[in-house]
Amino acid sequence: MKSLGLLAVFSLVGGSWAVSCWRETPCTGPLEPAFPGDWDSYNYAPSSRSVKPKTVLSSGALSSTVYDGSVVLSAGIPRVVLDFGLEVGGITSLRYTSDGAAVIGLAWTEAKNWVGSDSDYSNGGSTPDGHLTLNITEPGSGTYEVPLEKLRGGFRYLTLSYSSSTGAVVNVSDVLIEIGFQPTWSNLRAYQGYFRSSDETLNKIWYAGAYTLQTNTVPIKTGRAIPMVRNSWSNNGTLGNGSTIIVDGAKRDRAVWPGDMGVAVPSAFYSVGELESVANALQVMYDYQNGDGSLPEAGPPLLQQDSDTYHMWTLIGTYNYVLYGNDTNFLAHNWDRYRRAIEYVYGKVDEKSGLLSVTGTRDWARWGQGSNNSEANMILYRTLATGSYLAVLVGDNALSGIYTDRAAALLTAINTYLWDSSYGAFRDNATDVRLYPQDANSLAVVFNITSAEQDRSISSRLVENWNDIGAVSPELPGHISPFISSFEIQSHFLAGNAPRALDLIRRSWGWYLNHPNGTGSTVIEGYLEDGSFAYRFNRGYPHASYTSHAHGWSAGPTSALTNHVVGLTVTGPAGQTWSFAPQFGDLEFAEGGFTTALGKFQASWAIGNAGKSYSFNIATPAGTEGSALLPRVSGSREAKITIDGETGIYEVRTVNKLEGYALTIHGGTHSVLVQEIVGT
Ligand SMILES: *[C@@H]1O[C@H](CO)[C@@H](O)[C@H](O)[C@H]1NC(C)=O
Ligand SMILES: *[C@@H]1O[C@H](CO)[C@@H](O)[C@H](O)[C@H]1NC(C)=O
Ligand SMILES: *[C@@H]1O[C@H](CO)[C@@H](O)[C@H](O)[C@H]1NC(C)=O
Ligand SMILES: *[C@@H]1O[C@H](CO)[C@@H](O)[C@H](O)[C@H]1NC(C)=O
Ligand SMILES: *[C@@H]1O[C@H](CO)[C@@H](O)[C@H](O)[C@H]1NC(C)=O
Ligand SMILES: *[C@@H]1O[C@H](CO)[C@@H](O)[C@H](O)[C@H]1NC(C)=O
Ligand SMILES: *[C@@H]1O[C@H](CO)[C@@H](O)[C@H](O)[C@H]1NC(C)=O
Ligand SMILES: *[C@@H]1O[C@H](CO)[C@@H](O)[C@H](O)[C@H]1NC(C)=O
Ligand SMILES: *[C@@H]1O[C@H](CO)[C@@H](O)[C@H](O)[C@H]1NC(C)=O
Repeated sequence: MKSLGLLAVFSLVGGSWAVSCWRETPCTGPLEPAFPGDWDSYNYAPSSRSVKPKTVLSSGALSSTVYDGSVVLSAGIPRVVLDFGLEVGGITSLRYTSDGAAVIGLAWTEAKNWVGSDSDYSNGGSTPDGHLTLNITEPGSGTYEVPLEKLRGGFRYLTLSYSSSTGAVVNVSDVLIEIGFQPTWSNLRAYQGYFRSSDETLNKIWYAGAYTLQTNTVPIKTGRAIPMVRNSWSNNGTLGNGSTIIVDGAKRDRAVWPGDMGVAVPSAFYSVGELESVANALQVMYDYQNGDGSLPEAGPPLLQQDSDTYHMWTLIGTYNYVLYGNDTNFLAHNWDRYRRAIEYVYGKVDEKSGLLSVTGTRDWARWGQGSNNSEANMILYRTLATGSYLAVLVGDNALSGIYTDRAAALLTAINTYLWDSSYGAFRDNATDVRLYPQDANSLAVVFNITSAEQDRSISSRLVENWNDIGAVSPELPGHISPFISSFEIQSHFLAGNAPRALDLIRRSWGWYLNHPNGTGSTVIEGYLEDGSFAYRFNRGYPHASYTSHAHGWSAGPTSALTNHVVGLTVTGPAGQTWSFAPQFGDLEFAEGGFTTALGKFQASWAIGNAGKSYSFNIATPAGTEGSALLPRVSGSREAKITIDGETGIYEVRTVNKLEGYALTIHGGTHSVLVQEIVGT
């Protein structure tokens, strides 16, 4: 789905005219936010593609001063750190005036604790990125711009380091970043979705997820170079076709990773609302399908192979994209490849047990993968269930039936061999191991493999992994994974336990967002259980600073808050059908919205004074239809519900494993009051 299709090279942003799409990229993004309002103050996106530093951190000093347009470096001030105040990424340019020869080093970092004369790690090899050098050979003035291939995709801090044998004084001025991300948008703040609630922290986390996804939406020729560059970096790789594409992280890897998209794409859709980058990312995976039907684990130029789970995530991603965008041309174009990919992975199902036996063992970062691993089996279930839906869309009902039967058989096998009924959670595989992984258990609930009783049990068991700052993954010991936790929070909501979901969001994402050394604006790839900014260090990652601080796979709270707190979820093509099932947790009010090709979807609710009533407004496109499950707020089993002035009595029912008042809401604008009847 291309957004509004407007061709605007110049636009009025923040009151000044600016060339504001990335370089030669066609401007296809929306010009204005779909839902302008007070909540725009939470939006981290800069109002212009040209961004200046906010403050200057002097060497050694703890205090910072406002950046007034220039800094001076000299023998007495050999290092200056410029703080942009939030994650940015792109091309740095500056002016200088010097009274002699001097060399200025430039280094960029995301986290404050890695600030120094060298950049944080990103090149993917074991050597450091180092720094770039501005060599001033004689007195005078000049300008410097970072070469395009040295684009730095994600950073908050720029460190200028000085050396001069003559003691020259260098004045560096007009430091500017030309933002590279979200290349087709002239107004980076023109979000097509929004969120606000009575909790400031949740509001900021929703927008940090959205902004992270913008920083991960990059110009097509700015992927990380392969072969990996040594002692420097290059972002000159071609990632696919088109002008814009969604990658895993701002700084790195800057490659398409379909597993990451399992979290990133729903959150991008419900917030920023741009799907062209998603189509381009999925397309490149199909374009690089292997002869045996397998899909790469990562897109070009990285093109890592041998991951059964990421192979399946491309197929699940295809469902997500088609659900949100109703791009049936994309589906038809790739359908043969899609089918071959299903047969490839289904061919690994063991005839005797009915479980998938994983042989492509690369995965998200969990230490172990292979054999009848439960996480992979949950993902196969979802692949088949969504494949059945897609087959209907292409008009192949017979194939849809085959996928449905396969899904049903797999569901039985999963519950027969992987469920530990004495413990109340799924084991890591069918061997009798005492490891109950966060990924498989969360995904089982999210993918609807479980009963209501299993959901409640899994939700309680998952809490046992928590410490003060998040959920420690048993399958990645010592680590907290906001990627897998993005599924876990959904599983708590789906188990009907909003307080638990909100607790984990605040404890993990809230911890990072408020961390003095973090970006204060994005979501981090992962961290250690003791709160260090490190991830898979000594186990694939060359240095703790390699950790990405703007990683879309960790943006799960953004879609979860829209789907489960505001309560709106797309269930049919482009929102032709949708559900409304808000959960209040400890919140007093919440509202939000998003946009599809059919129009705008918006809902807002507020708890009444006595705590036994609430009201909500809902506005969805005419001709659409929603299934609502309205929550109980007291112990009552009956409520008086007034819809647009008409009152009826509703009894509690169970729908999709949760209790509430069920009703159908037609497209249009409605105002509803729910008053529970005391003593029922
Ligand atoms: C932030 O980084 C500094 C410098 O490495 C370190 O001394 C400090 O403990 C860090 N703060 C936190 C809260 O981790
Ligand atoms: C700076 O340029 C001069 C003159 O071209 C050269 O001799 C010197 O090696 C350069 N220094 C660095 C650090 O590149
Ligand atoms: C540095 O250069 C800027 C821009 O030309 C100028 O405004 C500023 O006064 C200069 N600073 C010093 C200390 O000379
Ligand atoms: C990317 O940059 C690296 C390092 O400068 C260079 O070796 C490589 O040829 C470039 N690749 C492309 C595709 O331009
Ligand atoms: C671009 O698309 C063509 C076919 O449409 C495909 O063969 C080619 O591999 C794609 N290139 C990239 C870099 O994805
Ligand atoms: C089953 O899971 C455990 C725990 O993750 C792991 O140690 C073991 O290697 C797995 N077994 C197989 C056959 O993969
Ligand atoms: C699971 O895989 C292990 C190791 O390959 C095997 O020993 C076991 O029989 C399998 N279990 C089932 C139920 O297929
Ligand atoms: C979950 O699965 C059950 C039975 O398999 C089905 O009836 C129900 O509609 C599913 N729920 C959702 C939300 O897909
Ligand atoms: C989805 O696309 C199909 C095929 O182009 C079209 O017939 C249908 O009306 C579309 N549905 C919506 C809700 O836009």
